[in-house]
Amino acid sequence: MQIARTVEELREWSRMNRRAGKTVGLVPTMGALHAGHASLMRAAASSCDAVVTSIFVNPTQFGPDEDFDRYPHSFEADCILAEEAGVDSIFAPSVEEIYPSGAETFVDVGSLSNELDGTSRPGHFRGVATVVAKLFIAAEPDRAFFGQKDAAQVAVLRRMVRDLRLGVEIVACPIVRESDGLALSSRNTYLNADERAQALVLSRAIRYVESMVASGERRAAALLNAAREIVSIEPKVRIDYIELADWQTLVPVETAESGTLFAIAAYVGPTRLIDNAVLG
Ligand code: PAJ
Repeated sequence: MQIARTVEELREWSRMNRRAGKTVGLVPTMGALHAGHASLMRAAASSCDAVVTSIFVNPTQFGPDEDFDRYPHSFEADCILAEEAGVDSIFAPSVEEIYPSGAETFVDVGSLSNELDGTSRPGHFRGVATVVAKLFIAAEPDRAFFGQKDAAQVAVLRRMVRDLRLGVEIVACPIVRESDGLALSSRNTYLNADERAQALVLSRAIRYVESMVASGERRAAALLNAAREIVSIEPKVRIDYIELADWQTLVPVETAESGTLFAIAAYVGPTRLIDNAVLG
């Protein structure tokens, strides 16, 4: 497995593969890799001939009071996990390589950037769209793989690809969970034992809403109230948002339909976690 540090090296690797008639898959990550990331890499390896994963903690998607400075790093372990999941190349650039000093060009995906996570994390999706656009331009992938775990991110990036006619297929992969339901996240390492137990109300609320929908309840107000009630069982869990929204536009809906996104973000102690389901 090769490790590229510069955009030029990544571009050369990608072009070499494409000249050989191979399809290129890209899996963007911020490292601290876990089985959720590995599932994206395996999906990429099974549908593309050559797979690159990027490991880059992107400063522009963090707010001033967020965890950029203490975001977990585990580069050596990440390389082993990626190789075992079928990755051929790792792109691990410096901040200067991605944002040359004086860089002033950003990608702003308009109104979608201000929904869900964009409401409480102003500028977050601008940072995400900008770094992913740079990765797409450098790697020229046929397909890029993202987790449904960050459902709003998927919607923003799909819109960016459509608006800029980037010609990259965005593949959304299912959420990988612990056996007790907690969605895997690099930020789970911040949780102490009590918080780890409290965090389970998120997936519990999701499962309950799914069961209500399966029994015929479609009214957003009823579904959201039930979810809020379940989360309130843990007084130390503070809801950031609970929303039923159209997964394409991220606009809230009043009636849940097949394909509607049910999404939660909540603070468990100081740690902000997200989870969701796409309703059947
Ligand atoms: P990061 O949080 O490292 O996540 C990288 C990818 O892994 C994202 O597409 C995310 O949705 C997916 N992922 C995380 N947890 C998952 C889980 N439990 N199951 C399935 N997939 C999961 O998301 C980012 O990085 C960044 O915003 C990035 C796109 C790399 C841009 O900087």
